Amino acid sequence: MNVKTEELENILEIKGLSKSFPGVKALQEVSMNIRLGEVHALLGENGSGKSTLTKCIVGAYRKDAGSIVYNREEVDFASPSESFKNGISVIYQERSLIPKLTVEQNVFLGDELSKRGFLSQREMRKKYNVICESFGFRLPPDEKIASLGVAQQKIVEIMKALARESKLVIMDEPTASLSKQEADHLFEIIEELRRKGISTLYITHILDEVFRITDRITVLRDGKKIATLNTADTDMEEVVNLMVGEILHEDEERESFSRYELPPVISVRDVVKLPRVGGISFDVYAGEILGITGLTGSGKTELARSLFGADRFDSGKITIGDREVNYKSPSEAIRSGIALVPEDRKTDGLILLFEVFKNITLPAIGEFSSRSGFISKYRELKTCNEFRKKLNIRLASEYQQTKFLSGGNQQKVVISKWLLTRPKVLIMDESTQGVDVKAKGEIYSIVRQLASTGVAIIFISSEVQEVHRVSDRILVFRDGKIAGEFGRGTRQDEILKTAIGGKTKFMGGGAR
Ligand SMILES: Nc1ncnc2c1ncn2[C@@H]1O[C@H](COP(=O)(O)OP(=O)(O)OP(=O)(O)O)[C@@H](O)[C@H]1O
Ligand SMILES: [Mg+2]
Repeated sequence: MNVKTEELENILEIKGLSKSFPGVKALQEVSMNIRLGEVHALLGENGSGKSTLTKCIVGAYRKDAGSIVYNREEVDFASPSESFKNGISVIYQERSLIPKLTVEQNVFLGDELSKRGFLSQREMRKKYNVICESFGFRLPPDEKIASLGVAQQKIVEIMKALARESKLVIMDEPTASLSKQEADHLFEIIEELRRKGISTLYITHILDEVFRITDRITVLRDGKKIATLNTADTDMEEVVNLMVGEILHEDEERESFSRYELPPVISVRDVVKLPRVGGISFDVYAGEILGITGLTGSGKTELARSLFGADRFDSGKITIGDREVNYKSPSEAIRSGIALVPEDRKTDGLILLFEVFKNITLPAIGEFSSRSGFISKYRELKTCNEFRKKLNIRLASEYQQTKFLSGGNQQKVVISKWLLTRPKVLIMDESTQGVDVKAKGEIYSIVRQLASTGVAIIFISSEVQEVHRVSDRILVFRDGKIAGEFGRGTRQDEILKTAIGGKTKFMGGGAR
């Protein structure tokens, strides 16, 4: 922690910033500053205004009121490319890469370094290699974005932000979908930025990260600034209370609903899906929550997709109940009682142009139809509101288009819709990413509730802490194989050690 920051100058000063959308006051007279070279955390529940604040800073949104002083001058950037040219880089919460272009092309997109207005192929490659070397990345430059996994795409976003000299780097949930190793690597990079006097505005829902890397913390609640604190002078409890406005209790010991005495609901035998899944076998029982963890690239998502019929597996056997299955499509899987809450809400989970309530009821639409075939909108809205309350989904109205929801609230919609299908087997793949602490707790208890009704649950997450908290039993994947199986009460570090397996990994090392 930097004790002398008090004397330092600010790189950014925000005064009285307000921004409204139809039906929502997203920011109300927010004032804060970011000092030179500090790492400043911006925290708050889903929908509290964090992304909106960053978008107002960089000119992606026009602010309604307030002033922004950047590098001693009052600014009003007309677009992110203008603020980018002035030294503010952003790692956006949502995707901003162009899938058809290569890694390298994306990294230098919008970069006009050369006199002719664009970078030559040779200059670009040279610069790419310098970035890789100085920051320790090793992604192949010619790979198309479309062929990369979510974690690797995030890494490209990070490279893009680092590719040019900035004075301020804004990171909106940069570690979402990164493995622990990759996140550690990012923290080293942030440390390096700090040494160079570059400031970082860091948005996250993972409080461990905040206490590890930040100097100060600003908390937003319902679009208002609640407090700015020195990280060294506060603790998690205080921060959580400021965020949610009430005292939260960790839940107590919980019981297991696993029906090990019954035959398994789902059996997986020697399943191979090249190139990442190399022969996986396990059973999941009614009422059981089976946790699966492992590094990025260890095969977790690929297995989930094979189980769900999103990809066909190459060999092996999957049995559900007493039927052997190899689904050709997700809709076939859904019909036989499997649901997948996917890792990537944008492409797999939501129809962004649809209203929120439609997204929630869509996969279970049969339940809302009367015998004469009419869909009861009344019941759809009622269900939507039940979930809205339970998961505290922030929206202006049930009719709002889903794309206007904040990142975490979109994820809550995805989770609601799959919980509604009343599956026999529920697969959750990194599903609580970007969801705030309070809602995470809610989701864990809904998962437990489902387990108590006999649903078999496969809970996949690279966050060991989370898997540890919800699972009855934990499998650790490493390089497409099961490297270990653990019961309740195993220590987290033991699980983590098994996941890493003594091998060091660099960012972007394991392709999807
Ligand atoms: N373009 C938009 N149109 C309408 N409403 C919007 C738009 N962008 C944001 N909002 C609303 O503004 C509020 C704040 O959203 P914002 O995305 O800033 O939250 P956040 O703090 O980043 O949340 P999260 O942690 O979920 O990412 C939300 O109620 C959201 O629905
Ligand atoms: Mg956000």
